[in-house]
Amino acid sequence: MATERLDKILAHHGFGTRKYVKKVCHEGLVFINGKMVTDPGAHVDISSDKLTIDGEEIKLQHDLYIMMNKCKDVVCANKDGEHRTVFDLIDEGLRHKFLGGDLHCMGRLDIDTEGLLILTTDGQLTHRLLAPKTHVPKTYAVGLRDSLTQEQKNEYVEIFKKGFWVDREQNESGFDCKPSELVWISDENKKQAENSSGKADCLLTIYEGKYHQVKRMFAQMKNEVVYLKRVKMGALSLDPKIKLGEYRELTEHEIEILSQES
Ligand code: URA
Repeated sequence: MATERLDKILAHHGFGTRKYVKKVCHEGLVFINGKMVTDPGAHVDISSDKLTIDGEEIKLQHDLYIMMNKCKDVVCANKDGEHRTVFDLIDEGLRHKFLGGDLHCMGRLDIDTEGLLILTTDGQLTHRLLAPKTHVPKTYAVGLRDSLTQEQKNEYVEIFKKGFWVDREQNESGFDCKPSELVWISDENKKQAENSSGKADCLLTIYEGKYHQVKRMFAQMKNEVVYLKRVKMGALSLDPKIKLGEYRELTEHEIEILSQES
């Protein structure tokens, strides 16, 4: 049961200072489950109680869940001296409205990667989904520098299906890349990788999240990723209506989908 003090909840939901909350309580304007509450320190169960002020129902939500279509040139970090961060794209009011933990990225995308990024205050869910044993599938639209013959494309598919060794990159050690699924995008289906300038485009699904994993997998094949966009995480796809650099809150159904991944 997630209970929280009434005055804290109302302050987070934009109902002004604790002093103001005290006033509306004393005026008899606050009701929990239809019962008048005059104590601003009363506890409210966020998951089940119905709270109204002056007849208006206050929607209670402990955590914030955001789906963003990340654009290039913003970083998944709290602070960066040089670049804008994904948090700079989010409305201040929304960021501070919730009672859960700090807003954070559920996994990172590189500065030049676009697409599906989940931001949340729900640290427990992030912890469960990013745990190495969870293996949440992540699908990327990938554009490659070099064009490939059909034979080479088939070869990539086979190698990726079996798994292969990926060499170290700077301070990051090499790793045994687990089997992944690669599907080539034909010219007719090019809109799946709409911004790609690649000479060959594919959808790649991986089940782990090593540093620069997708770029390093293709570098190992002596090719180079020139476009990268995450399009799916688990059973959750990027909403095509969200423009680059924009976001919306997840629906309850989508939160449920994510929670079921772990
Ligand atoms: N793999 C990468 O190389 N970069 C990303 O941003 C995500 C996966």
